[in-house]
Amino acid sequence: DKGQYRHYMQKEIFEQPVAIMNTLDGRIKDGRVNIDAIAPNAAEILSKVEHVQIVACGTSYNAGMVARYWFEAIAGVSCDVEIASEFRYRKFVTRPNSLLITLSQSGETADTLAALRLAKESGYMSAMTICNVASSSLVRESDFAFMTRAGVEIGVASTKAFTTQLTCMLLLNAAIGRLKGNLTDEQEHHIIQSLQRLPAQIESALVFDKQIEKLSEDFAEKHHTLFLGRGEYYPIAMESALKLKEISYIHAEAYAAGELKHGPLALIDSEMPVVVVAPENDLLEKVKSNIEEVRARGGQLYVFADSDAGFTDADNFKTIVLPKVDEVTAPIFYTVPLQLLSYHIALIKGTDVDQPRNLAKAVTVE
Ligand code: M6R
Repeated sequence: DKGQYRHYMQKEIFEQPVAIMNTLDGRIKDGRVNIDAIAPNAAEILSKVEHVQIVACGTSYNAGMVARYWFEAIAGVSCDVEIASEFRYRKFVTRPNSLLITLSQSGETADTLAALRLAKESGYMSAMTICNVASSSLVRESDFAFMTRAGVEIGVASTKAFTTQLTCMLLLNAAIGRLKGNLTDEQEHHIIQSLQRLPAQIESALVFDKQIEKLSEDFAEKHHTLFLGRGEYYPIAMESALKLKEISYIHAEAYAAGELKHGPLALIDSEMPVVVVAPENDLLEKVKSNIEEVRARGGQLYVFADSDAGFTDADNFKTIVLPKVDEVTAPIFYTVPLQLLSYHIALIKGTDVDQPRNLAKAVTVE
């Protein structure tokens, strides 16, 4: 039942504060991750992990791409991420003490399931799934499952599954970081506190709905959109581009902002909207130079930032200035206004938001 909402996608976007609260429920104890709540034998396995291989498709793959930054920065273990349909059809080398993590909303994605089955024969230390459906094949066939608890997701465009996958990933990173001695108590407390603050912060992002709806009018007549970000915001840009193309049928591409000069700058003209995710952080100055590169070529800029980033509206330059949030959870936070942007663009275009043409919710055949 959609209740007060026009579409399931809209409902699911607005459910994210509650979904994240549910994902955290019982998984935090005394300001730290409750590792036993991940799985009864999780601590033993996680303390041995030396490498993580993530395998997934679509939006779940984009969540894996964000998590890669966290595994190397927080947990202190090397991490690779691969699209399941590629992983399953190539020869790969299994690293010692490597944990395979499949990410999936449905738990039934054919390529991801095939990748899991292959990995189980290929010497992985253990296979974990981060999944939203308890009765699914991935949950049944994995050594252990860390459930996202997003609740039923009906819209074909995945929203709350993505943000709860990232919530699970941060908990997992805090757990591995502690078990491997790569994270201080203080750092772990900080991650946990940031996660606990996140639901209320996402509520505050949802308040920008009307402002984002207004912004979306600029995109409806466009044929292309470019999304840019650096660091964890590069995969957030990827996820935003996927959302836009999937539900509005506008061609959208994401680039790591530092790649502009290596090709995509040639695309920039007054017909090319460029969305930049630019919160205040160590990379902001770099992102600002990239913004200048676009501005100098007459690109239309739409910058999603926080009050500390110091952007204001100007000619061909519109900003959505969000509240400042903790850096560690900010990629999850920024996902939400960008989901709203795609949603509103699709509404103007009049597409079938919940059931985009040619797509299925669960891709159970390859
Ligand atoms: O159920 P899964 O998370 O395994 O599904 C993977 C993709 O099919 C899925 O994320 C797809 O890309 C979505 N429609 C994106 O919104």
